[in-house]
Parts: sequence; structure tokens; C-alpha cells
Amino acid sequence: MTKHIHVSVAWPYANGDLHVGHLAGAYLPADIFARYHRLKGNRVLMVSGSDSHGTPISVEADKRGVPAREIFEHYHERFLLTQQKIGISYDLFTHTDTENHHKVAQDIFLLLLERGYLYKETQQLLYSEIEKRFLPDRYVEGECYICGYPDARGDQCDNCGNLLEATKLINPRSKNHPEEHLIVREAEHYFLDLAQFSDQLLAYLESHQANWRQNVVRFSQNFIQEGLRGRPITRDIDWGVPVPLEGWDEKRLYVWFEAVMGYLTASIEWAHNTGDPDAWKAWWYNPDAEVYNFIGKDNIPFHTIIWQAELMGIDGIYNQQEGNYNGCHIQLPYNVPANEFMNIEGKQFSKSRNWAIWVPDILERYQPDAVRYYIISTFPETHDSDFSWDGFLNRVNNELLAAWGNLVNRMLSFAYKRFDGKVPAYDALTYADVQIINRVELGFGEVGNLIEQVRLREALQTAMALVREANYYLDVRKPWHTIKDDPEDAARAVYTILKVIDNLKTILAPFLPFSSQQVHEYLGYNGQIFGDIQIEEFEETTRSHKALTYDSAPAVGLWLKSSLLPGQPLREPKALYQKLEPEIVERERSFLGAPRDEHAIVP
Ligand code: MF3
Ligand code: ZN
Repeated sequence: MTKHIHVSVAWPYANGDLHVGHLAGAYLPADIFARYHRLKGNRVLMVSGSDSHGTPISVEADKRGVPAREIFEHYHERFLLTQQKIGISYDLFTHTDTENHHKVAQDIFLLLLERGYLYKETQQLLYSEIEKRFLPDRYVEGECYICGYPDARGDQCDNCGNLLEATKLINPRSKNHPEEHLIVREAEHYFLDLAQFSDQLLAYLESHQANWRQNVVRFSQNFIQEGLRGRPITRDIDWGVPVPLEGWDEKRLYVWFEAVMGYLTASIEWAHNTGDPDAWKAWWYNPDAEVYNFIGKDNIPFHTIIWQAELMGIDGIYNQQEGNYNGCHIQLPYNVPANEFMNIEGKQFSKSRNWAIWVPDILERYQPDAVRYYIISTFPETHDSDFSWDGFLNRVNNELLAAWGNLVNRMLSFAYKRFDGKVPAYDALTYADVQIINRVELGFGEVGNLIEQVRLREALQTAMALVREANYYLDVRKPWHTIKDDPEDAARAVYTILKVIDNLKTILAPFLPFSSQQVHEYLGYNGQIFGDIQIEEFEETTRSHKALTYDSAPAVGLWLKSSLLPGQPLREPKALYQKLEPEIVERERSFLGAPRDEHAIVP
């Protein structure tokens, strides 16, 4: 049965380039998951976009002395090119400054207000007399009053993940003028009344306890049990979605309040772009659909508490008039498989110290599938992990290239040269041949199950174990020896290994889409396994914007055992992967912590 799978991917702040932590935390897991489900023939809708608003963007803009819009547009453009290059196959990667996003976010605000889920209250806030304004969120840093971390931000602590109130920080200091003595002033703001959702949220978490990652459930349950208080959802800033009320022109919606709505607004935009404006409802109002939120662990409370509460609060909003989905509830996430952090050479990522590996930079030097392979094999699914250049070198050379690349290149060149450029004909297969074919065919189920459970590191390991079995098989069968005295036996083995490679190419395709496409072509097939990821320009009435789109037609239903036929013409293969030189380790390490120039990205 075809399932509807919604892949909701965390929206990166458009205030800096993508780094490997982004790939490891959310984008690669989401991409593997989406590609697999497309191959299975399920209906996938994978969306995200640039998180364009709020203090993360305006603090960066202040630092560089340029308007916030300039920062967001610059990085949005780079996100499009970078993700296209590494193959993150969004059906739509848009941004939160579209007319559509503003409108839906404001509608949701008004609906929550009308339903009594928002209230207005006077708040004590930090104020700068130098800057003559309030200092919300990232404009303030100080010691976390929960865990003691010295550089917590006004709204969240990066160390313990808790949501904070800026006035409670120990020794709060202004980001722009750390020496300034800040004063406290009052202002009116709207609050999301989370307490009204406590029971529903707890029941919801409990119903998912079995299939969710334990750290996600535990963090969220603790959060609720400590008592849910109202969260302010408006801010005294000028960069963001305007508050749709008279007299509130000076304030904006809190970035987290509206960014999470992006999963819904981007689905609506996607449907509009495809010419079927109601198409998004097949995911959002379909009780059989499954919505997955791919996020990093610092995003947990926003997704398991705030976004859920918003969804509960707007339930029923769009479903009144619709035939099919009439009476259905809006879909809450089915799973929130948050990943932990990926450190770099043993130390935590730091933008300010440039302790980071930037994706556009490494894509200038390494193949996208090599980067994907290493990051997937070190996914921080159950605990923090570490990106080390040594590890990258070893895994790429000794696993990806030595086991998979060499298998493909040796056997496809051999078949191409010795069997007249065609898949060899055979009389019958030996026991060993049938055995390896059966073994690898079982991989579809094994790897597929692991992907469905979002155990992606293990899924790749399982696929690579099959690659190694194929290599053992060859060590035994040795067609390059038998071809001299027993060419018929060599033909059996070569046919077998080509079929095995054909199966492995499919099983590896969600992880290594670029090389699987190459293998597909070497085996003589035409056409694409996956569709293209494109950059397109969309017009709205007041603005236009660029977005990534994905052509979902090709992959449908290709998660299938090979039925490779003798006589199929092969194409002359080239090496799948470049061997890495040991020198790269020292060179790459020398970039860490040193000043960085943003490299130009060539599309
Ligand atoms: N911009 C946030 C971050 O980088 C993630 C936002 S996810 C969203 O941590 F759903 F809210 F958009
Ligand atoms: Zn903390």
C-alpha cells in the first residue's frame, strides 16, 4: 500500500554557511529517508527552507553593518547551491520570507488568538540605553541559570538545551556592548498558553514512547513535568513576520513561533506550485500519513512542545469544506528522530572560532558521495560523534573505495573487456552463485527496515557488510583465473556478480545517490534512479524567490531486486571514487580554527 510520508526538515538559519553538523543532524538523515521511501513507491513530501528571520539573522547583520535582508538572501542562495551539490532532494526548499509564509503564519496567530490560546501580558525585558532598544534573544548572553554554561543566549542555552528567560540569566550582557549595564523595562507581548496543552502533550508523548528515541521522549516529558508556562511569541524587533494587529507595527512574531510553521506553509506553497493547491492535505489531513521531523537535539523543545501545541491549537483549521479529509485532524508528527551533535576533531563546533567544516568548502575538494559516506557512518544517532579527517581518509579509502568502488570497477571493467561489452550469458548457476544472490536480495528487507526505523548508520553498515560478502564471494570464485581454462564458469561468476552489484547499487542508492546513478549507467541502464534537484524562481504578487525543487517521477517503485538480463550492453566504467592522499589530513586540520574566506560557489 502506498503511504504518504512527510519529511519535515529543520530550517537552517540563513546567517552562515552550512557545516557538517547540519548534514549530520538533519539534512542527510532526511534525504536518505526520503529517497528510500520514494524508491519504495511511497508518496514523499520533503520540505524545508531558509529560516530568514529573528535575531540570529539581525545579530549577524549588525556585526557586518549590512541590512538583515542582505544576510538572509546571501546565505539562502548559498544553501540552494550547496544542497543541490550534495544532493539533498527537497521537493521544496523555500524560505520564511515568502508572502505565503507570512500570510499563513499570521492566519495561524489570529486563529490561536481567537481560540484563546494566546494571551497578552506585560513583560520585564532587558533594555539597552546605548542602543535605545530592547535586547531580545541573541542580543543577550550570560550564564545559564540551569546548568551554569557561561555563554547561554537570551532564549536558549546551547549547552543544556533548555529554553530560557533573558532576565533570569546570571550576569546578562549585551552582545553588541558587553560592558554596558543593562536595565529592565516593561513591554507588552503575546504569549502562547502552553499550559492548556499539558495533558494532550503528555498523552501524545506516551502514545509514541515505544517508537521514539528515548532521549527525545525523556527531554520532552521532563520539560512538561517541570510545569509548562506561557512562552512569549512576539518581540521588539523589526526583522520578522509582522504581528497582524493594529498598534503592533513595531513588533514581530518570535522566529521560533513562525519558523516551525514552515513545515505546513512550505507544503502549501509546494501544492500551489504544482498547480493542485489542495495537494498538501494528502499529508496534513490524512490519518494514515506519517510526518517525520528531522532535527538536531537543540531543536527538541520547539518540535515536541511548541510546534505540537500550535498544531493542536489550529486543529481543524483548513478541513471544514474538504470532501476527502472532512473531519480529520491535522497530523501531529509521527516521529521526531532528533540527532545529537557532531564534534570536529574532538572539539565542539564553534562558528566564532571557526572550529567548523563548511560544506561548500569541502565540496570543492571531495566527491559528494565520499562526504555523505563518512558523515553517515558517523551519524550521531545515539550519542555525540566526531568528524575526524583521519577517519574520513580511512573510511573513504578503506571502505568506500576499497570495498565498493573497487568491486564495481574491477568487475565492470572485466565484464566489459572480456565479455564483449555485454552482460555474459550463462548455462546454469553454481550453488555459491545462487547463495550470494539470495544473500544480497535479503538486504532489501534488512536495510529497508532499518531505514524505516531511522537507524541509518546501522542501515549503511548492513549494506556495506553485503558489499564485503560480495568481495569474499569473488575471492572464492576468481573469474579472472577461471576465464583461462573454464570460460563458462567465469561467465557464471561474472553474471552473478553483475547482478549482485545491480542489487547493491539500489540498496546503496539512498545513501550514495551519485555513485549509484553511475553504476546504473555502467550496467547499461538508461534513465535516472532519482529525479533532478533544481533551482527555480517563483513569482508571488509582492516578491519572487528562488527555491530548490525535486522531480519526483523517476524513483517511484525502484526498490526492486535486479532482473539483469544476459546480453544487456554495458558502458565502459570509470573509477567511482578518487583515492585520498594522506596529506589531506594535516592540510584540512590546519584550516580548523584559522580565519576563513567564504569561497565562491560555482553552480
Ligand atoms: N533555524 C533553526 C536552527 O538552525 C531551526 C529551525 S527549525 C524550524 O536551529 F522548524 F523551526 F524551522
Ligand atoms: Zn544551560
